[in-house]
Amino acid sequence: MPDTQHAAPKTGITEEGYLTDSWYLAAPSTDLAPGKQHRIMVLGEPVVVGRTPAGEAFALRDICPHRLVPLSAGQQLETDGEWTLQCPYHGWRFGTDGGCKLMPSLTNDSPYDPSKVKVRRYPVHEANGAVYLYVAHNPRADTPPIVPPPEFGPLPDKPGFVIHDVFNAHMDDAVVGLMDPAHVPFVHNQWWWRPPSVGLKLKEKPFIPTERGWAIDRHPPSSNSKLYRWVFGDDVETEIRFQLPGYRWEIISNDKARLLTLTCLTPEAPKRTRITQFTWWTGAPLLHLAVPIAKPMARKFLRQDGDMVDLQNQGMAHQKAMMWIDDIDIQAKWYQRLKREWTECRSEGRDFANPIEARVLRWMS
Ligand code: FES
Ligand SMILES: [Fe+2]
Repeated sequence: MPDTQHAAPKTGITEEGYLTDSWYLAAPSTDLAPGKQHRIMVLGEPVVVGRTPAGEAFALRDICPHRLVPLSAGQQLETDGEWTLQCPYHGWRFGTDGGCKLMPSLTNDSPYDPSKVKVRRYPVHEANGAVYLYVAHNPRADTPPIVPPPEFGPLPDKPGFVIHDVFNAHMDDAVVGLMDPAHVPFVHNQWWWRPPSVGLKLKEKPFIPTERGWAIDRHPPSSNSKLYRWVFGDDVETEIRFQLPGYRWEIISNDKARLLTLTCLTPEAPKRTRITQFTWWTGAPLLHLAVPIAKPMARKFLRQDGDMVDLQNQGMAHQKAMMWIDDIDIQAKWYQRLKREWTECRSEGRDFANPIEARVLRWMS
């Protein structure tokens, strides 16, 4: 469901319909080894993400401004006491702030000042085993981010496990697919989660607006969520939240334990969205033993959604229009409204005003 209006150039959104002035997941912390870097795609642009031998995560545009070679193919070296990334072609060295610190070919009396050359730097935030980067609308602006990095409450330093997948879908379709409440009994109907024999039940959930998103406030989980009970015992509550540009998290907790599963969406290309899912928990030591089972289960879950996207693409190759019905597709509509509000508030230079009103959504699933 990409935004198809392209009237005047807007702030806060790219032509492909990706939100800017926003934080996206760059990589799990463990993907960034000290002294190493690699190339990722973010909002259709190449980015080199890495970590200095001193432990600092960084993200730069992965194009050397000289002859456009990827900086990710270079190596990290110390230059005047700071860690720099050296381009593999002519050895220009860039600091983690994006500034060029050295051009080896310059003679001592050269009037050329390397520090005038800069490569785009993306502000980076690392917390609880995840590295996020900020994509400013203006690639040349080096002003501080206008929103704080995503925050998910108290979490352990490291996730219990991380899985990822790539959906052959636009970011918008991937978001909508993952939040869709009515597909669960049809797509995720394996015996250990929700066997078809369970049938459909009435769901009635109170939704409330939150910061740049919405939430189903704390409530007892559906009676068919066997796994929750098995792991946590009774008296558990769940809470589900969505926040722009593409974070969905679910908290399962009782008075002893808390488990948080965060799904992060990073658009790589118009039909390619990277999905990274982190699971953290505290107070449930048995869960550490269950990781070898839980991880493939979570992977299977995500792949089921990815496979549905591939089927959907067979239809999208021939038709654009989709249908949106109440109440199951209201969250999809909210997502579009939030995106619209984001681009309007960024274009008008005002604060974000959440357009969602609290309401109860009802459906069978
Ligand atoms: S291409 Fe990078 S230094 Fe020349
Ligand atoms: Fe799903």
